[in-house]
Amino acid sequence: MRVYLDNNATTIVDPKVKEKMDPFFCQMYGNPNSLHQFGSETHPALSRAMDQLYKGINAQDEDDVIVTSCATESNNWVLKGVYFDLIKDGKKDHIITSSVEHPSVLATCRFLESIGVRITYLPVNSKGVIEIEDLKNAIDDKTALVSIMWANNETGMLFPVKEISEVCKEKGVLFHSDAVQAIGKVKVDAKDTEVDFLSFSAHKFHGPKGVGGLYIKNSEPLSPLLNGGEHMGGRRSGTLNVPGIVGMGEAMELADSYLDYEYKEVKRLRDKLEDAILKIPDTFVVGTKDERVPNTILVSIKGVEGEGMLWDLNRYGIAASTGSACASEDLESNPVMEAIGAEADLAHTALRLSLSRFTTEEEIDYAIEHINRAVKRLRAISSTYSYAPKNHKNGL
Ligand SMILES: Cc1ncc(COP(=O)(O)O)c(C=O)c1O
Repeated sequence: MRVYLDNNATTIVDPKVKEKMDPFFCQMYGNPNSLHQFGSETHPALSRAMDQLYKGINAQDEDDVIVTSCATESNNWVLKGVYFDLIKDGKKDHIITSSVEHPSVLATCRFLESIGVRITYLPVNSKGVIEIEDLKNAIDDKTALVSIMWANNETGMLFPVKEISEVCKEKGVLFHSDAVQAIGKVKVDAKDTEVDFLSFSAHKFHGPKGVGGLYIKNSEPLSPLLNGGEHMGGRRSGTLNVPGIVGMGEAMELADSYLDYEYKEVKRLRDKLEDAILKIPDTFVVGTKDERVPNTILVSIKGVEGEGMLWDLNRYGIAASTGSACASEDLESNPVMEAIGAEADLAHTALRLSLSRFTTEEEIDYAIEHINRAVKRLRAISSTYSYAPKNHKNGL
């Protein structure tokens, strides 16, 4: 049996999405910017896709959504665009983010720091979420942008986006949210939350890889990251990825229509898996069930190295993740576990399990059986695990 529990890394393309994309590879393959029929025949599908995208995130208007190649590009664009627009000439000098953002935000912030931008990395509490007071205290007259994710990719914890947005409005600071792990799991409403920028990526919600988007409220000017042939109204150059855009539009509409299912069925299966794991002694899950997106579990299983667990589960066809760069020679600990203050021996034991609307009950039963088996086997040979309890700080 093959069980895919790594949906926060990427998802299966919904067959309905693929079906919509298919004609745009070998039949309607024209460049939408060309003046002949091969180009123009792609326009109705593109226009439908843009409609699906802006409705899916409840944008102010169709022009507010710009298609990119991925969320890494969208995140880079916002941070570097704000640098060129507000920081380079000295009007502002400061960006605030959290210590648990995706590397596409953190590495870009570190790059901006290396060229003189002041960056504040807000700490997170034991649930892995920032405190609003810390944000208020960090904002000053020179702050240009706050970039805080909607939901964390490791823990699934939801951030108080609406409150963050209100604080930013009050202080006159731009607010960007990386909503990659939220779309298709909770309602992401750009208008209601009044975010200025919002990033998303099709492959996280059963769309194709290599296509994402950036919402820019009221189509505000933002220096382009990619200059070139003036595509997307000059905002993002590069020949349009027609099959990708069509697929992302369809995936967005489907994701929206499955939100109730996510909260009922996906959450039920996730909770079943979580409850079963928590019956194993010395296990700990980050964050509460209801404050998380409905598909994610980040669990620490004391005495069981995350990488060892992955390897063992993989032998039985189960895909999960440690959330760390496990290709490294050294066993790396989970960065979010570290950020919440977990001690080193626990941060090495993180296992991320992420479900999707394609996950079945039979798969969850199979995963429960094999997780139990793997924990017994790995603890029996562990040099760090003894059944005597150890007190960790934060009660972990
Ligand atoms: C929260 C978050 N932001 C950004 C990204 C990057 O997305 P992409 O693969 O589209 O570049 C990911 C991917 O894992 C993510 O989880």
